[in-house]
Amino acid sequence: MRHLIDPLYFSVKETEALLDVADDICENREKYAHKCDGKILATLFFEPSTRTRLSFESAMMRLGGKVLGFSSASSSSAAKGESVGDTVSVISYYADIIAMRHPKDGSAFRASQYTKIPIINAGDGGHHHPTQTLTDLMTIRRRHGRLDNLTVGFCGDLKYGRTVHSLVKALSRYKGNHFVFISPEELKVPGYIIEEYLKNSECTFEEVTDLSAAMPGLDILYMTRIQRERFEDIEEYERLKNSYILTPEHLVTAKKDMAVLHPLPRVNEITLAVDDDERAKYFEQAGNGVYVRMALILSLLGMTDFDTDKVEDHHDEVIELDHVCKNGRCITNAEDETMPIYVKGENGRIRCKFCDQYVD
Ligand code: CP
Repeated sequence: MRHLIDPLYFSVKETEALLDVADDICENREKYAHKCDGKILATLFFEPSTRTRLSFESAMMRLGGKVLGFSSASSSSAAKGESVGDTVSVISYYADIIAMRHPKDGSAFRASQYTKIPIINAGDGGHHHPTQTLTDLMTIRRRHGRLDNLTVGFCGDLKYGRTVHSLVKALSRYKGNHFVFISPEELKVPGYIIEEYLKNSECTFEEVTDLSAAMPGLDILYMTRIQRERFEDIEEYERLKNSYILTPEHLVTAKKDMAVLHPLPRVNEITLAVDDDERAKYFEQAGNGVYVRMALILSLLGMTDFDTDKVEDHHDEVIELDHVCKNGRCITNAEDETMPIYVKGENGRIRCKFCDQYVD
């Protein structure tokens, strides 16, 4: 049984095969209309969502399956104090596959320790969002025909933006990509992404603050929302919330085949006038989410015929340590019975297995 907790749970070969299936579904919808007859998807959303939950539900329905679930923690027994582990243990008897979103970093990995059916991370706090990554990869590949040798700008909240973390990890496996991280100092991409994925990759990166200056070199501009719900200090959010607002004027110097992506929802970081530009691909990107999630459901239920690889988990040397994770948003700090696990990365630094926070 396989899960999708982190974007690297699928090898490059598997990811591309999955994107091929998604492309085929897009072209031949009727071929897939009954693939999941009799199957049930549970959508366990402890945190708000429009695209991810509804595209998962649409995906399962378009495959002929059925859906059950909840759309907020307050309408589940989490409101009475039930743990993630107990929730998925029970749901394993009610469904064939789970898509779960939860506000705590590492909650999806926690769920995978208990589930008896495949579990998909539909967003765990500010940590990862691997199905958004599949959506992003499909959109980039359809735009440029490749996933390597691209200059990709990430702009906005790169600290809490889980979609950024997941997409950078995924694209760092391709040769020749150059990442331009455009953010205020306070919202830079987490150190572990740079230390453990970019420094060991065949990609390059730079960290800048000026969106206009970066624009002419970009093949992709990945805009993000400043994530108010992740800030511990609301005054810091108020100070940073208008850091970047993309307007048509910015696009004057951009390449003609550049694409503007955004995982959505947007607040004000892309003006409505940008929507009319041919390079604005964020709504098409959201639409692609249905096809990749259809392909993913089929894959995790063992209904695709592409070869599976053994994915090497080269970051998982477990270290015995009596330590409390420093990340206040980590699931280990939210549930008393969740014992921390620490692992040593390739750079020798020890980090939390659940949320990737370094110990030192
Ligand atoms: N992109 C994304 O995760 O959107 P939702 O929060 O609406 O699911």
